Amino acid sequence: MSDADAARDVVADPLAGVADLLRCPVCGGAVEADRRAVRCGAGHAFDRARQGYASLLARPLRFHGDDAKMVGARGAVLESGLYDPLLRAVADAGADVLSGTGAGPGPDGPVAVDLGCGTGTYLAGVLEQAGEPVGARGIGIDASKAAVRAAARAHPRMAALLGDAWAELPMADAAADLIMSVFAPRNASAYHRVLAPGGAVMVVAPEPGHLAELVDGIGLLRVDERKVERLAGALSGFDELRADTVRWAMRPTPDQVAAIVAMGPSARHLDAARVRARIARLPVGQTVTGAVAVRVFRRTPAAPLTAPE
Ligand SMILES: C[S@@+](CC[C@H](N)C(=O)[O-])C[C@H]1O[C@@H](n2cnc3c(N)ncnc32)[C@H](O)[C@@H]1O
Ligand SMILES: [Zn+2]
Repeated sequence: MSDADAARDVVADPLAGVADLLRCPVCGGAVEADRRAVRCGAGHAFDRARQGYASLLARPLRFHGDDAKMVGARGAVLESGLYDPLLRAVADAGADVLSGTGAGPGPDGPVAVDLGCGTGTYLAGVLEQAGEPVGARGIGIDASKAAVRAAARAHPRMAALLGDAWAELPMADAAADLIMSVFAPRNASAYHRVLAPGGAVMVVAPEPGHLAELVDGIGLLRVDERKVERLAGALSGFDELRADTVRWAMRPTPDQVAAIVAMGPSARHLDAARVRARIARLPVGQTVTGAVAVRVFRRTPAAPLTAPE
C-alpha cells in the first residue's frame, strides 16, 4: 500500500489510526490493523467484527458487560438531551486535559482512552470539544459487544475494542494522555502503566441525590454513600486536579423514565411490570435531579501502585 493509500485508510478506519498505540495481548508486540484483523509480527491475529471493533483478547471474556437492551436504553437517554449538562462538563474537562498537553494532530498528538465506554458518547464529546487543531485520537474499551458496536461509529477519530477494564489492557506503555471512567469500573494499576508522564484520569460517578426522585418513586438502587471514600483510596498515587459536581434538573417523559431505569443496574433487580406501574403513578411533570461528580486526577510522580477497586 502506498503512503497516500495508507493515510486514506487511517482516516477512514479509526482502528488503523490508533494501531501504533495498541499491543498484542498475547506477546506484547506491536500490531497493525487492516479491515479484517489486527496482527502482530509474531503471527497472532485477532478478527475484527463487521461493525469495525476488534477483540484484542488473549482469552475469551468471562464477563459480557451490559446487554443490548441496556446499551440501547443508555443511547436513547444520551441522545434525548436529558444528560447534556453532564456531557458538556465531561467534554470540557477532557478537552482541557488534551489541549493542555500542547500536542497537535498526528502520531504524537494527544490520546484519550475510555474504559467501560458504553456507546462512546462521552469520549466522542471529548474528542469533538478538543477540536481539529488538537486532532486527539480516542480508544473506547468495553466488555459489551452491543456497546463496542455503537462506540465503533461514535467518532471518526475513535476506535473501539472489546475488552475487560480489569485485565491487562492491550495498549502500549505510556500511550494515553487521558483515561476516562464514566459510571464504569476503575483500574488504578492499569492507569499507572498506560498513562503518559503528566497524564490524567477522569472519574465520573454519581453523587448522593442522583436520580433521587426515581430512587424514592420507583425503587432504583441508591448511590453508595461510601463510594467517594473508596474512590479516593483506589486512586492513591494521584493528585486531584479538579472536582466539579454537576447538578441539573430533568423533566423526562414516562418513556424516558423507563429508559433511565433500563440503562442502569436497577434494570437487573426490578420487575418490569412493577416499574411500569410505578412510573404511571409518578406526578405529571415530575422533575428528576441529576447529581454527578466529574473529577480529574494527575499521577503523582513515583507513586506506589495500588490494587484495583
Ligand atoms: C453504567 S455503563 C456506563 C457506560 C458509559 N461510560 C456511559 O456512561 O454512557 C457501564 C459500562 O461498563 C461496561 N463494563 C462493566 N464492567 C466492565 C469491565 N470489567 N470491562 C469493560 N467494560 C465493563 C459495561 O458493559 C457498560 O457499558
Ligand atoms: Zn503477538
